[in-house]
Amino acid sequence: MPKKAILGTGLNGLVGSKFVSDFANHYQFDNLDLRDPERPVDITNYQQVEKIIAQSSADFLIHFAAFTDVTAAWQENGDKNGLCYQVNVHGTQNIALACQKYHKHLIHISTAYVFDGQKESLYTEADPLSPIEWYGQTKAWAEELIQSTPNLNWTILRIDQPFRSDPFPKLDLAWKLITGMKQGKIYPQFNDHFFGPTYIDDFAKVLDAVIRLQLTGLFNASSGEQWTDFAFAQTIAQKKQLNYQVEAGSLNDYLKTSQRPYQKNTALAVDKLKAVLDFPLRTIDTAIAEIKA
Ligand SMILES: NC(=O)c1ccc[n+]([C@@H]2O[C@H](COP(=O)([O-])OP(=O)(O)OC[C@H]3O[C@@H](n4cnc5c(N)ncnc54)[C@H](OP(=O)(O)O)[C@@H]3O)[C@@H](O)[C@H]2O)c1
Repeated sequence: MPKKAILGTGLNGLVGSKFVSDFANHYQFDNLDLRDPERPVDITNYQQVEKIIAQSSADFLIHFAAFTDVTAAWQENGDKNGLCYQVNVHGTQNIALACQKYHKHLIHISTAYVFDGQKESLYTEADPLSPIEWYGQTKAWAEELIQSTPNLNWTILRIDQPFRSDPFPKLDLAWKLITGMKQGKIYPQFNDHFFGPTYIDDFAKVLDAVIRLQLTGLFNASSGEQWTDFAFAQTIAQKKQLNYQVEAGSLNDYLKTSQRPYQKNTALAVDKLKAVLDFPLRTIDTAIAEIKA
């Protein structure tokens, strides 16, 4: 059977590249890629985006590309001419408009940083957007503009602190901890900061399910679990037999010295997603055990 054509942005990144490698036998990927030597596409340039989308037979476009460095984004706070706004908002608008024009179903990858982190329990899809820093603000605007684009078929998937079973040049949270522990040094880990780790290997399966089942709308798509940095690091040390004594630290203390606002809790409820998936998500315990370290 011929492979289904899929358009993508950011398919070389930490998350997108895992979907590409895990589903290479199912899909024929076409990446709108800034660094493609023969056909570079900058998503902030509408003409470049439209040209590729207009010529494609794909029904779906998965939009991973983003300015993802949260600390660097904070340096651009409020600057709509800055790269973060241009890529995350203007770039997403270009993608949305071209998808609307050429009837492509847009699957957009978003983040739990669209929330302020003040809620103690898990965030649901019904919670209002409340970003507190520039990266989260630009991603929140991207969500809003997609939802308000008329006649656009869209799915928004929010993730938090993604990590994968295999190493990738841009180290994710789990691989940073593993690498640091192997080298004998990691920072003290916050026991008053909560997040909802996303196992990228499962998220790749979620993306496939969105395509197969033609799911539309807004979904939180992490693990549905809530972890502290301290518990996460300790579990990694133990399951990977790293023989490392993790030290506890405090986000509240850290915030006294940090300029950048920081969400205290970004864990996401995934009941809406689980109700429509046709496979179970792995627990984070299982996922950590699967890491190939
Ligand atoms: N990583 C996280 O912790 C995290 C957490 C929550 C949500 N997310 C979301 O998940 C998605 C994927 O994140 P990631 O960590 O996989 O990203 P990443 O590794 O930082 O990769 C970003 C990708 O965006 C592409 N890109 C950037 N600017 C572009 C432009 N102007 N035109 C075309 N492509 C451009 C880059 O292309 P080149 O490779 O050519 O430079 C790269 O492939 C993002 O939407 C992010 O907001 C990530």
